[in-house]
Amino acid sequence: MTRKLIILTDPGQDQAAAILMILGRRDAFDVLGLVATAGNIHLDHTINNCLKLMELAGRPDIPVFAGCPHPIIRPLVMAEHVHGPTGLDGPDLPPPSIKAEDKHGVDFIIDTIRAHPGEITICSLSPLTNLAMALRKAPDIAGEIVEIVAMLGAYFEVGNITPSAEFNCYVDPEAADIVLKSGIKTALLPLDVTHKMLSTPERLQAMRALGNRNGIATAEMLEFSEAFDLKKYGWEGAPLHGPCVPAFMLAPEIFVGRQINVSVELQGSLTAGMTVADWWQITDRPRNAFYVRDGDPVAYYDLLISALGNLP
Ligand code: RIB
Repeated sequence: MTRKLIILTDPGQDQAAAILMILGRRDAFDVLGLVATAGNIHLDHTINNCLKLMELAGRPDIPVFAGCPHPIIRPLVMAEHVHGPTGLDGPDLPPPSIKAEDKHGVDFIIDTIRAHPGEITICSLSPLTNLAMALRKAPDIAGEIVEIVAMLGAYFEVGNITPSAEFNCYVDPEAADIVLKSGIKTALLPLDVTHKMLSTPERLQAMRALGNRNGIATAEMLEFSEAFDLKKYGWEGAPLHGPCVPAFMLAPEIFVGRQINVSVELQGSLTAGMTVADWWQITDRPRNAFYVRDGDPVAYYDLLISALGNLP
């Protein structure tokens, strides 16, 4: 039984790896569309990057929709310092020959969930702006979403864009707050686990050794984006965030987590965007998320690399 997915994304090399991993597993995933988010880079670049990736994967049939050009309230914070001026620097990918759809990404989310009640999983790799806007515009869809699986947050591993906040949550904390209070079944893959999934030189070489254009391009993307994290953390490889989302859907058994309350700080001048994870269940706040704290990197990279090998 394949999972019907709507992918929310602001690629971003790590998210590109996640998207290609999903497209390499047609036995497990049926991608109904991508909603480009403003985040790592401006919306026009994230739209373009989504289109490039669909053509790279040989899937020009999958529609790409433009979401909102900035967060719900706050000014857009981007991460060109990690991802480069296009957001997908590394390989020399040709300009896309396909175009985004005319329909707005928020309306695509609403219309698609209404057309497939009880069937769709939201695969969120980005800030949650567009899902939050869809929930505000059409509250009825909350009861029709099977699950949200999102790369978002940090608690034991602290923040990456501020000392207390992870980037996807920090860009639009109000959106994350809306989603985490929606009552929708939610799994979070935070920095606590993505920082265990390091793209070592051996793992990048294994991607290249696939010999196909998608394996080589993924290695080139990650070899570009790793520079910032290798300098920052001094680890043997950069953390690979995005593919944790499809990996959790494919093999939840390789991850460790628990159902707890996760709340978002909105007021703090130093802590805005922090995900406060009640890991020891000290409060009586609703246990609104399955919070993943650990995972098996060997199994993770096996899943990723084998999926990339299924692509052109
Ligand atoms: O905090 C890491 C996440 O933020 C990654 O997915 C990266 O692409 C950015 O979106």
